[in-house]
Amino acid sequence: MEPGEMWSLGDYASAGDRWAEASVRLVADHVSQGDSIVDLACGPGALAIAAAKSGADATGLDAAPALLDLARRRAEAADAAVDWVASDMTETPFEDASFDVVASAFGCMFAPDPEAMAAELVRLCRPGGRIAVLAWTPESAFGQMAPLASRYLEGGGSSPVERWTRETGVEQIFSGLPVRLEFTVRTVKTIWPSRDEAVMDITDGNPAWIMIRSAVEPTGRWGELVSDLTDLFTTHGRDENGRFVLPVDYLETVAHRR
Ligand SMILES: C[S@@+](CC[C@H](N)C(=O)[O-])C[C@H]1O[C@@H](n2cnc3c(N)ncnc32)[C@H](O)[C@@H]1O
Repeated sequence: MEPGEMWSLGDYASAGDRWAEASVRLVADHVSQGDSIVDLACGPGALAIAAAKSGADATGLDAAPALLDLARRRAEAADAAVDWVASDMTETPFEDASFDVVASAFGCMFAPDPEAMAAELVRLCRPGGRIAVLAWTPESAFGQMAPLASRYLEGGGSSPVERWTRETGVEQIFSGLPVRLEFTVRTVKTIWPSRDEAVMDITDGNPAWIMIRSAVEPTGRWGELVSDLTDLFTTHGRDENGRFVLPVDYLETVAHRR
């Protein structure tokens, strides 16, 4: 299944909105008024919309039509002017050095060829500009979800996503490219009405988990996987004022383009 078709399944935003704060923070830290910025794999558009609201010239790109439609509706409701582009993030339609800021929140890490993805990020960024990429750290609850699921999947092993989650992996991905890398680990506090709703939001709404479910259910081990996911959330989360709070660490890579 093509990435755009896969990511249009379910209801990504139902859980994804709970970590939109990470995108808003990236904009506050790295985008200035008047910058041109592209949000690659923008999903429902939180980063591009925040950038437009802060006075940047913003473009959002994604392969999933359903998410782009949602992003477009949200931008209209927020009175944010964003150019929305339907495209594969590894082969974008933009000229070289088109943007001051090239950003991707939990998106470009899904590229099947990380080195080709990094080359595209660098190609799009003007010399002197910056590339900002977010990925869940391997120790975090979300960073452990893919390795957990892969234990239930035939042929499941490490995926290219994991290389974006550690400094050493990112250094390898960008090696030889004209950038200076800077790393920061940050935390986003995701909040759900309860732990069980958190688990359900992921298992029933997240497109990647809808695919995982369709592969694991026929093996009869889906219940076991859900139980492991529940344990993972129990370990990392806590009840706070009648809500379930799951703090999740992510690695922010900023690549300063030479
Ligand atoms: C985890 S979501 C992140 C969405 C958004 N940036 C956020 O922070 O909520 C991953 C996104 O990557 C997009 N994506 C995955 N592969 C892609 C590809 N090859 N080209 C463009 N977008 C892709 C999906 O459609 C989805 O919107």
